[in-house]
Amino acid sequence: MHRVSRVLAAGTLAALTGVGAIAAQAEDYPIRSITMIVPFAAGGPTDVVARIVTAHMARTLGKSIIIENVVGGGGTTATIRAARAANDGYTLIAGHMGTHAAAVPLYPNLAYDPEKDFAPVALLAGTPIVILARKDFPPRDFREFMVYVKDHADAVKAAHAGVGSVSQVACQLLDSILDIKPAGVAFNGTGPAMNALVAGRADYMCDQIANAVPQIGLGTIKAYAVATPERNAALPQIPTSSEAGLPAFQVQAWNAIFAPKGTPAPVIARLNAAAVKALDDEAVRRRLLELGNVIPQPSERTPEALAALVKSEIKRWNSVLKPAAH
Ligand code: MLT
Repeated sequence: MHRVSRVLAAGTLAALTGVGAIAAQAEDYPIRSITMIVPFAAGGPTDVVARIVTAHMARTLGKSIIIENVVGGGGTTATIRAARAANDGYTLIAGHMGTHAAAVPLYPNLAYDPEKDFAPVALLAGTPIVILARKDFPPRDFREFMVYVKDHADAVKAAHAGVGSVSQVACQLLDSILDIKPAGVAFNGTGPAMNALVAGRADYMCDQIANAVPQIGLGTIKAYAVATPERNAALPQIPTSSEAGLPAFQVQAWNAIFAPKGTPAPVIARLNAAAVKALDDEAVRRRLLELGNVIPQPSERTPEALAALVKSEIKRWNSVLKPAAH
């Protein structure tokens, strides 16, 4: 055989073998435990939602899903790591509205592209934002809060989980509507930020509802408003931002699973099916709903629907945050 054609034949054979190997791997998937990177501290809303859903997914897949909390950079440190991980289905990330949308306008040199560097797997939950404060923060309701933070803008401290996190972005939007620039106190997640609020080391926070419900139940913090059009069944006593006097403040975040780009389609399909099955499970639904999460409708659970959500959310936060930053 001529040398070039011999080389070509060998290359073709290698390519075919490679394709065959990937297909076989995807068929057997998973053969070992899967790592789910959570880009914030344990105990926060992303961690809690990921643990509720992946515990069920692991039963469906027959292998454990190990949660690894990788903190820093408002969630971007972990997301960079996930983008660069092997695309074999054994490293996934619990991304959200911050890591996979709002970080784009906030980090001009972001080392990943949420659309190009990830294969969307499934949306897990919508997470309404609640405006919270330490228990003894003087304002008694949201109208008083708006006046108070304007009058004390140089003194109040807003807790958040780093630039690009949901809590930071949501309060940045609130601050821009109220036209204030309070000091921010950054934590590795809103789990630790919540501890600071409970201990009175921060004044207020715009957090995802799953983190707020348990503390509101214990009476360790106060809640002024939920930033969605309707009240939330997990916090029926808390008014909406419209009822409370600020209809312009509307934020519902979301949590989802992503794999590194190039993860084989059959693997994505298997993971998506396991996530969808979890979202249909009575106990999983009850737990998510008790914490105020919104369970995605069937049409919102496909990888394609998640890709469309990421695209539209990047567009949305680009238009909201870029002008606010200047
Ligand atoms: C967390 O789990 O700590 C949060 O999702 C952080 C945030 O984005 O505010």
